Amino acid sequence: MIASVNQISLLKPDDWHLHLRDGKILKGVLSHTADVFCRAIIMPNLDPPITTLSQAQEYKKRIIQSIPKGVSFTPLMTAYLTDDMPANVLERGFREGVFHGAKLYPANVTTNSSYGVTDISKVSNLFETMERIGMPLLIHGEVTDFNVDVFDREAVFIERHLEPLLRTFSSLKVVLEHITTIDAIDFVEKSEFDIAATITPHHLHINRNAMFNGGLRSDFYCLPTAKREIHRIALRQAATSGKPCFFLGTDSAPHTRRFKESSCGCAGIFNAPFALESYLKVFEEENALDRFEAFSSINGATFYGLPLNTERITLIRKDISVPQMIDVGLDGDPNDFVKPFHSGETLRWAIEDV
Ligand code: DOR
Ligand code: ZN
Repeated sequence: MIASVNQISLLKPDDWHLHLRDGKILKGVLSHTADVFCRAIIMPNLDPPITTLSQAQEYKKRIIQSIPKGVSFTPLMTAYLTDDMPANVLERGFREGVFHGAKLYPANVTTNSSYGVTDISKVSNLFETMERIGMPLLIHGEVTDFNVDVFDREAVFIERHLEPLLRTFSSLKVVLEHITTIDAIDFVEKSEFDIAATITPHHLHINRNAMFNGGLRSDFYCLPTAKREIHRIALRQAATSGKPCFFLGTDSAPHTRRFKESSCGCAGIFNAPFALESYLKVFEEENALDRFEAFSSINGATFYGLPLNTERITLIRKDISVPQMIDVGLDGDPNDFVKPFHSGETLRWAIEDV
């Protein structure tokens, strides 16, 4: 990485956690990622979810068809674990390079997770297979127990489920996704197991107050929810630490206005349009620009055992205004626009036009 006061050049980054959706909106959201990132781990929480090789292959085709002309981008597909997922589907999918990992959603934990795993102990056979073949397990680490406070659900998941899981399957490769707490940071950092974590831009910028600032603001509602300020500060330290166990995963999760501005607003923040600029703001504020490339372009690929990208990207110091809304190519009705993270703000690094 080469950094000066006004310019940064780094290996092109990858996004290790991304929601692209499907249908008409796919094209409208994909370009924001494909223009900047070389690869992305694609979340399988469609409805119905991606549980078979052919579903993953078909979805991958639809993604590839939606990539803007002249842009090179590789979607890395994942499988959605269900109670009755056959282990041989995972094994075949991984060996044939169709699946790069499998996602564990505890049933009903978040958007389109009702097909998820109802009881982790029911799918031990899947973990056994994944451990044997070296297939990464990607975890949405929150308990769904209604009696557990929503802000404690990540910490409780670690204690109740993740710790015991890793003790049983001690060679399993695990990514704890979109971590939000000091508990998760400590667990990953100090673990004797093969575990890493992704960190989103929004959890580096907002704490839980953002959801209640002058009213109920669903634009800042995502899952896991942002936590107290002490957690945000710790996340910024973890992300900018350069430690190989932390890497970039935006969890960009677009929902149109009609689904956000509702009495039951959907969880998810659409950060893809300015993701890199958003992360850079944090790294600059933390005086850690020299560690950005490890986080954005090296640690994730290394964990997944994939080659590093060879292309480079340049960012220049330039003010950019983030629009209020993004038209994602639906029918032009403002209710079908999506609000980007940082809407209405000015960010200070911009991707150089090529
Ligand atoms: O905020 C979130 N949105 N968290 C998730 O886990 C899912 C995602 C989505 O798909 O909308
Ligand atoms: Zn996600």
